[in-house]
Amino acid sequence: MKQVAIIGAGPSGMYVAEALLKRDPDCEVTLIERLVSPYGLLRGGVAPDHQKMKSVGVYYERILTQFQDRCHYMGNVSVGTQVALTDLQAWFDAVVIATGASEDRALGIEGESLAGVYPATQFVSWVNGHPDGMGHTFDWTARQVVVIGQGNVAVDVVRLLAKPVSSLRSTDIPESRLAVLATSQIETIYLMGRRGPVQAAFTELELQELGHIDGVTLGFNPLDFELGEACQTELTLPDSNKARKNWATLGTLRQCSPSSGGRSIQIRFFESPVRILGTEHVTGVEFERSMLDGPPGQQRAVGTGVRHVIPADMVFKSVGYRSIPLPGCPFDTKRHVVPNVNGQVVDENGVAVTGLFVAGWAKRGPSGVLGSNKPCGVQTAEALLASLGGEASKPRGGFSQWLLEKGVKWVTFNQWKQVDAYEIQTGQALGKPREKLIAIQDMLGLLR
Ligand SMILES: Cc1cc2nc3c(=O)[nH]c(=O)nc-3n(C[C@H](O)[C@H](O)[C@H](O)COP(=O)(O)OP(=O)(O)OC[C@H]3O[C@@H](n4cnc5c(N)ncnc54)[C@H](O)[C@@H]3O)c2cc1C
Ligand SMILES: NC(=O)c1ccc[n+]([C@@H]2O[C@H](COP(=O)([O-])OP(=O)(O)OC[C@H]3O[C@@H](n4cnc5c(N)ncnc54)[C@H](OP(=O)(O)O)[C@@H]3O)[C@@H](O)[C@H]2O)c1
Repeated sequence: MKQVAIIGAGPSGMYVAEALLKRDPDCEVTLIERLVSPYGLLRGGVAPDHQKMKSVGVYYERILTQFQDRCHYMGNVSVGTQVALTDLQAWFDAVVIATGASEDRALGIEGESLAGVYPATQFVSWVNGHPDGMGHTFDWTARQVVVIGQGNVAVDVVRLLAKPVSSLRSTDIPESRLAVLATSQIETIYLMGRRGPVQAAFTELELQELGHIDGVTLGFNPLDFELGEACQTELTLPDSNKARKNWATLGTLRQCSPSSGGRSIQIRFFESPVRILGTEHVTGVEFERSMLDGPPGQQRAVGTGVRHVIPADMVFKSVGYRSIPLPGCPFDTKRHVVPNVNGQVVDENGVAVTGLFVAGWAKRGPSGVLGSNKPCGVQTAEALLASLGGEASKPRGGFSQWLLEKGVKWVTFNQWKQVDAYEIQTGQALGKPREKLIAIQDMLGLLR
């Protein structure tokens, strides 16, 4: 039987596994995951107040149970630290890298390292109870917050900061985080984009939600909505569906009459961050008013020279995620992805690396929703099976035996299900979907 290792049990790893197992009955898959819990950003990134989306986990779970004879989960094993990529290459006929993109992209402007300035990735991990978020603290005395970037992650951050804690109690945000959020002094949150309303990266449904938060008002700058000719043309392009929906939604949201008091979300366009101000702690962000340049559909932000400052006590940078290299694997340091052709990894000369594949955000970069990883995973699986042909050269069970001898203890899928059941049970008593165990040690302690 062909032996395939997939590094990372996030959505892309799960879709590659599914495609391999369905297409080839002679293929056995081992998913190696650094956390105890599977499903990557579905558990640790997707917003905790979007529980409907989290139900995709049922689909992933079915892959592990339906193919349990040929699909093995090894949680709590980190490739690159506990196990080397070369070890996997020795024990498996093919290896798939599905490690996602866990780091934040830097803005590259002055003041980024001031106290009170945080990558959105940190807040996302913290609020989702991801073990990586354990050490993070934020300044909850802040009254005015600036969020830089207008993707859906930025919208998630703004919404979770704006919502009253009472409306978050039925989510799976850990109790310890809710207690801290309840102390938040936030009054105003700015959601800042460098381009216009037609180019915004967020999507309609996520935008709409901002207009329906109890006690929260929205504010805009009317000047942002004077569309130039190129933007009007852009709205008519066949692939501008998202832009048209956003534009219509913004029109509706602008008509809502603001109620007094409570928190406010200020959505601003055409504002490029120039530098973050402060000596030790952030005091504000200097923005340059921008305008658009280029043909409809490809317009970029360029500066107008007009600058102003928005005072801020806390700043979140939400300008995208970034993959990190896996030791021993080729890496494109400009695009921050694993270089590949249709999922097969290639070296710096473009030559295919035998038996090494990549999928998901590590392959395409940090964009796309959960479902985007399915066709991507299928492409990788098909390239892998085509390259292996009918051949299998590695012994069944060789890797797990070797790990045992090395003293590495992994968490099986059934053990993860024990943790899962415990979280759900504890959550039910609190009226929420689950109460997450955050520390890996606590999960392992429960299993002991
Ligand atoms: C904050 C946020 C919210 C999102 N919300 C939504 C949403 O609501 N709806 C939607 O459709 N999409 C959403 N997305 C997009 C979606 O989460 C991604 O498309 C998807 O998670 C990418 O899958 P992936 O498997 O490539 O990466 P990941 O989900 O990051 O999975 C990678 C996995 O690899 C593991 N790993 C990493 N390094 C190693 C290693 N060295 N050894 C072993 N394991 C390793 C990680 O622990 C992780 O489990 C969101 C993304 C973010 C960032
Ligand atoms: N509910 C959901 O479905 C959901 C939730 C969260 C995430 N996701 C998905 O996950 C993926 C990642 O989301 P994301 O929000 O991290 O990334 P994203 O969608 O790529 O958005 C990045 C944002 O950062 C801005 N930006 C980049 N560099 C900048 C700079 N130097 N200065 C100012 N602004 C800058 C971008 O502006 P420009 O457009 O001008 O470059 C854009 O507004 C997306 O595909 C997203 O749809 C989905």
